[in-house]
Amino acid sequence: MCGIVAYVGSKDAYPIIVKGLKRLEYRGYDSAGIAIGSDSCITILKTKGKVSDLEAYTSGKNTSGSIGIGHTRWATHGAPNQVNSHPHNSGDGKLSIIHNGIIENYVSIKTALETKGHTFKSDTDTEVLVHLIEDVKNHENVSLFEAVRIALGEVVGAYAIVVMEEGITNEFIAARKGSPLVIGVGRDEYYIASDATPIIEYTNEVVYLEDSEIARVNSGESLEIKTIANVSKTAYIHELEMSLDTIEKDGFPHFMLKEIYEQPKSIRDTMRGRISPDNKEVKIGGILDYEQKIMNADRIIIVACGTSWHAALIGEHLIEDFARIPVEVEYASEFRYRHPIIRETDVVLAISQSGETADTLSALELAKEKGATILGICNVVGSSIPRLTHAGIFTHAGPEIGVASTKAFTTQIVVLTLMALRIGKQKGMISNTDFHQIITELELIPEKVEKVLKTNSQIEIIAQQFKDANNFLYLGRGYNFPVALEGALKLKEISYIHAEGYPAAEMKHGPIALIDDEMPIVVIATKKGNYEKIVSNIQEVKARGGRLIAIVTEGDKTVKELADYCIEIPNCFEELTPLLSNVPLQLLSYHIALLRGCNVDQPRNLAKSVTVE
Ligand code: G6P
Repeated sequence: MCGIVAYVGSKDAYPIIVKGLKRLEYRGYDSAGIAIGSDSCITILKTKGKVSDLEAYTSGKNTSGSIGIGHTRWATHGAPNQVNSHPHNSGDGKLSIIHNGIIENYVSIKTALETKGHTFKSDTDTEVLVHLIEDVKNHENVSLFEAVRIALGEVVGAYAIVVMEEGITNEFIAARKGSPLVIGVGRDEYYIASDATPIIEYTNEVVYLEDSEIARVNSGESLEIKTIANVSKTAYIHELEMSLDTIEKDGFPHFMLKEIYEQPKSIRDTMRGRISPDNKEVKIGGILDYEQKIMNADRIIIVACGTSWHAALIGEHLIEDFARIPVEVEYASEFRYRHPIIRETDVVLAISQSGETADTLSALELAKEKGATILGICNVVGSSIPRLTHAGIFTHAGPEIGVASTKAFTTQIVVLTLMALRIGKQKGMISNTDFHQIITELELIPEKVEKVLKTNSQIEIIAQQFKDANNFLYLGRGYNFPVALEGALKLKEISYIHAEGYPAAEMKHGPIALIDDEMPIVVIATKKGNYEKIVSNIQEVKARGGRLIAIVTEGDKTVKELADYCIEIPNCFEELTPLLSNVPLQLLSYHIALLRGCNVDQPRNLAKSVTVE
């Protein structure tokens, strides 16, 4: 959840770290801090608030030094204030640490350290860890590298850490378990970060530290990597393919808007190379070796969280429709704790933009232990889920920085569509004609999304009308029910308006009681599917005075007469409508949040990558 950046080399560390922290602010932004090392001391500067607050706080202070660590926090233990923000120091002040994750057994470690005379300033688990490292170092009389390794052997939980030592200006120690850490390799310099975005500007050579690995990062030497269990490892250098302009705002006022507008490109990128030129074949290299297993699976269980869980619900429709394999969709957090029945003939598929979500990762680990085939659909190359799975498919949405997921969602649906079609065709569940028609239609989706994006100014006007509402209800059926859920989630995430998504027909079993002339209802009423039934549901809303915003198919007349506002989307096959119907809902949330003065890219209390339970 938190963002980590560190630098060691010959350049000034401060600007590199601050710039990197800004790129990682999507991971947490309630406090920020930095530690800069010099020959004589470590200077720590930290404050509540965002990285810009840290910049204001450090202004005029001495920040020079060519080794440093920085952190942007999403609080887990202790309130977001200056004392609890990172870096934290050891008791003697000689060690400084930044940490992303949770030390689960920190209370027992803290108690044991207290009996040895340690006292603590903050409420954090992180401060306990750096005291533990100090304790090991002093009592066992070992190097910092060894002390960190031994201390981590006692730790239960998840962590990505970087530790530096007073007076040592060319070296720090980094380690990870369950939380991501990437090491950028420069010439006589190293960069460390929670993801590659702070690094790409300086080098495209990176080493992904594996779980339970620890690295000695010395600017004048090659990386020394070991496991926590003391087995030496080789550092494998990967080449990053990401470019700098893909992680900048590119003229848009917010990342979220930029990412909404990037969807036609992201969809094309996700399809690229996977569809034959004649639209008669789909090939997905990432799962080719496991295709037979998927085809023979008794069922596919999809685990995910948040927006990815909504994509999973659409995947359920797609896979059951096209491939006729039973699908169950589970919240990863529930699945892992409820003794699920997992058989070797099951395929467990995780969907995750970040590839780091702790609950999703743990659900997969459980499924792997039970012998299931585990697959992933992820956006971030090199993240933990793709490295854990037997096989998987990348979404190629490009870096998604806005905390509210947009283009990742659409590309997840594209991947699920391709996968369902491929498996369905291999199993003989879909005719060549149908297959060809759907693929041909899918190829047209980017253009159609471009058309939907042209409704932006109309949506802005609608947003003006509804910006002061306290509640919203989103309704959809079939393929568009998960879209309703996602629309409601988007609105509540960034505008803090209470919103619920419901299957339209289920409305009469409860939510209908909420409807009055104050209540905006967003209904997805596209021509295919249960159109007539949705029209009846709209009548029910109208009869109770609800204010209706409808997403309709181009040329619709019936709903237009009933709804207060209609947003048209191009006609397409029902199975593909979520790729279009979802876009106006993203824009609606964006504009409402903006009009309410909310921070669209960094909504309160949220984080983009939830690497804690
Ligand atoms: C967080 C984010 C959501 C995201 C969810 C799952 O809650 O704020 O936008 O949908 O995590 O993330 P994942 O990276 O696994 O898709």
